[in-house]
Amino acid sequence: MSQSARKILVTNALPYANGPIHIGHMLGYIQADIWVRFQKLRGNECHFVCADDAHGTPIMLKAQQLGITPEQMIGDMQRSHESDFSDFLVGFDHYYSTHSDENKELAETIYTRLDKAGHIKTEVIEQLYDPQKEMFLPDRFVKGECPDCGAEDQYGDNCDVCGATYAPTDLKNPKSVVSGAEPELRESEHYFFDLPAFGDMLKSWTRSGSLQNEMANKLNEWFEQGLQRWDISRDSPYFGFKIPGTENKYFYVWLDAPIGYMSSFKNYCTTTGKADWDTYWQADSEAELYHFIGKDIIYFHSLFWPAMLKGADFRQPTNVWAHGFITVNGTKMSKSKGTFIKARTYLEHLDPEYLRYYFAAKLTSRIDDLDLNLTDFAQRVNSDLVGKVINIASRCAGFIQKKFDGKLSANIADSALLEDFQLAGDNIAELYEKREFSRAMRDIMALADRANQYIADKEPWQLIKQEGSEQEVHEICSLGINLFRTLMVYLAPVVPKLTEEVQHFLNDTFTWESHKTALTDHPINKFKALMQRVEMDDVNAMIDASKEEQASQAPAVEANDELKKEPIADEISFDDFAKVDLRVALIANAEHVEGADKLLKLTLDLGGETRQVFAGIKSAYDPEALKGQLTVMVANLAPRKMRFGLSEGMVLAAGPGKDEIYILNPHDGAKPGMRIM
Ligand code: 2FM
Ligand code: ZN
Repeated sequence: MSQSARKILVTNALPYANGPIHIGHMLGYIQADIWVRFQKLRGNECHFVCADDAHGTPIMLKAQQLGITPEQMIGDMQRSHESDFSDFLVGFDHYYSTHSDENKELAETIYTRLDKAGHIKTEVIEQLYDPQKEMFLPDRFVKGECPDCGAEDQYGDNCDVCGATYAPTDLKNPKSVVSGAEPELRESEHYFFDLPAFGDMLKSWTRSGSLQNEMANKLNEWFEQGLQRWDISRDSPYFGFKIPGTENKYFYVWLDAPIGYMSSFKNYCTTTGKADWDTYWQADSEAELYHFIGKDIIYFHSLFWPAMLKGADFRQPTNVWAHGFITVNGTKMSKSKGTFIKARTYLEHLDPEYLRYYFAAKLTSRIDDLDLNLTDFAQRVNSDLVGKVINIASRCAGFIQKKFDGKLSANIADSALLEDFQLAGDNIAELYEKREFSRAMRDIMALADRANQYIADKEPWQLIKQEGSEQEVHEICSLGINLFRTLMVYLAPVVPKLTEEVQHFLNDTFTWESHKTALTDHPINKFKALMQRVEMDDVNAMIDASKEEQASQAPAVEANDELKKEPIADEISFDDFAKVDLRVALIANAEHVEGADKLLKLTLDLGGETRQVFAGIKSAYDPEALKGQLTVMVANLAPRKMRFGLSEGMVLAAGPGKDEIYILNPHDGAKPGMRIM
């Protein structure tokens, strides 16, 4: 390599520690991973770090909902995220958490430096407060009627129906999403970061790099609107880091989230010794720093983040690269259509390299959304990877193995063709560098077509039948294997597992420079099937599994739409409640009722006494699955005569109906007949 190795630090947006990774997330991680693998293959010193984004109100509430500590929840979530990433072959050099000592220390350092330099201001503001839950409510935790168009059930920051943006205090008939209580206005002192003081610096930062056009336009819009100071504090209760010098104020999650890039790298430097932290973060650093993010968080990364770094005397990012969102089969990922696909569900049905290739084949350097059309996905992978690239090796390898002792020829049959393949390398490298992956894949596949054409023209399978043609067949097939090898060097950043198998087959280790050389007089290993075709049956099974997961999922705190659809009933006195005799009941028998399309007939055992109850749960339950389960019933409900017989009570179940009904189960240890108190 003529240039000296570059020092590069790459980060990916940190996923929140309250939910699983889905294939929409994977787009950004795969994009960054391909870029990083390319840099490493080129011989650059490139470090790739990430972490779970562990703080904030949704995380605190979700842990409460699960009945565990936030620490326990974020620990479990981090493990599951890490295994999803690793199974998708995303090769982070380090994966950490924002809930770490290093992050706390760095957040405090940055805050203290900003404060000393006069960039932190305080002001008392009014905010909605949930008197029942005793907490201030973030905008997304208040719902009510839009102040502009009157649409119901709108979040506290903007209206889905008319697009108006407003403050949560503007909502009519506001309700807390957490408790359903009517929020009240309360005062609280907040801490603000003086973003407007960084206007000039941000403008020159914007001009210094090669920002994506869409991002530069967005920034100019924001500059024209005027920058706003940024509220960086939240009141207790909050899961996060306390602001130094305060009693009950916490850093807003978005303050310490990007600092997670620094702290993950710090922990990596300390534990592995593989890099020097200061070299990458000091104000005059010459190392390159890139953040891959989704288009929804450009504001945080292109305004707050560079300004915070500047104000605290650290370097600014070399560039921030945003990608679009994915749609599946042309529409937004949908839970009911089964196209909201979790990373794990994908992995249970399909090879991660299919998706890596498909994303690469469609990704550009722009912020456009990308459609994952599942039929096109299967066809593209089958036609390109299996039908074009791997096919070259499978057509040639058998001859080498059987006729030529597993050894490639000493001479190259058509050196001009090989040279064309090699000369394409610089352009493909430039496309990778510029994140124009789809153009790189197109060039690679055009070469693969030429390789296949060459073999088809030469017909080694015919030639071999002619006497004295052995040498020629040897050279043709050896060239075929070398063309395949060159293509695999080019594809290495996209399909690392396949590349590893190919290196073993070829008895070789790739660097980017390998594309300039050929293997001659070189022993190779036996060829094994390298990749299976994508089967639509597996794709469909993945969609079905996603639908099933959705049906069995508990509603999340932050999306508790049931609150709205089923308003809480009028208040009753304790005495009223005490009249209801709730009992643990064993479902001794469950059966279909002839002629009834909603009902199941249950025989409930109350610990000696049995009751017959007709329950409208047929659409959600198979009677066989209910037998032997414990549930909860109203035992003193007056018997009702129904068309099919007498119903002596009622079982308790939740849900909107149809196939979404969940009967209540007491915890292990409860016995039939026990009274619920
Ligand atoms: O939007 C998100 O999913 C955030 N968790 C991204 C954080 S990126 C970085 F700033 F930490
Ligand atoms: Zn509206």
